Amino acid sequence: MLRLRCLWWTSCSSSSLHSNRQFLNSTIKSSSSSSLFRSSKMEAVSYSTQSSSSKKLLFRQLFEKESSTYTYLLADASHPDKPALLVDPVDKTVDRDLSLIKDLGLKLIYAINTHVHADHVTGSGLIKTKVPGVKSIISKASKASADLHVEAGDKIQFGDFYLEVRATPGHTLGCVTYITGDDADQPQPRMAFTGDALLIRGCGRTDFQGGSSEQLYESIFTLPKDTFIYPAMITKGSRKWMLKEPFDCQVSTVGEEMLYNPRLTKDEETFKSIMENLKLSYPKMIDVAVPANMVCGLQDLESKAAA
Ligand SMILES: [Fe+2]
Repeated sequence: MLRLRCLWWTSCSSSSLHSNRQFLNSTIKSSSSSSLFRSSKMEAVSYSTQSSSSKKLLFRQLFEKESSTYTYLLADASHPDKPALLVDPVDKTVDRDLSLIKDLGLKLIYAINTHVHADHVTGSGLIKTKVPGVKSIISKASKASADLHVEAGDKIQFGDFYLEVRATPGHTLGCVTYITGDDADQPQPRMAFTGDALLIRGCGRTDFQGGSSEQLYESIFTLPKDTFIYPAMITKGSRKWMLKEPFDCQVSTVGEEMLYNPRLTKDEETFKSIMENLKLSYPKMIDVAVPANMVCGLQDLESKAAA
């Protein structure tokens, strides 16, 4: 049985609410439906959803070229303190991310990982050294170090918004998807940060880190169909195009993937056969990234301290 647990963020003074709303009006384009706009300097795509109340979710999709991975910034921009979190930060782009957070007047409270990445070193540990008070989060099943460990059913609160934790193992044993809440006052459509479990027109490999194609297939199909998905990386086919046009938002829905993802339109046995015969090369960063990510990306700092 799943256990419900909340990681509450405590709100502070509301004295700056008026100025914050002015800030919102000048920086976030929103409408009654979803809206997108591009930034030519930050390699980021912004998106804002409108909830049924006056709450506004600030969202940025940030790209790291070397690993072709995404980091996501979310914040409750209507809240007086504008609490924010980063999903899957990369060590190489920590300064960029923190600069953006500063520019937007946000208060970073969580650095979250969907899983122990094998293609880059997480920025979580580095962020903690630069921004006191930030808590790192990863799944308990990952067996990696973090300040907080989450399990399926847990909720990660930031202001009046929250992310629900869904277990989506298969790419790795400890993979989770973070999905925005389904309450009426949460952003609609819901948004799922799927890590490398479900990618746009692809999915994560299953041949390392406790992977299982059977588990991956079954876990993907537990996600609600009308949910937007924001993966942790671009897929091979879109890499060339993305590197030329890195500012286009990569987004799909679970339902769209079930219709058009060349792996997910197959039955489970065919899916397993596809995954077992991908003939992929050995991940070039895995021997560096995984040991570092098991200790929040701080392996070098810890070994230097021990020397
Ligand atoms: Fe991965």
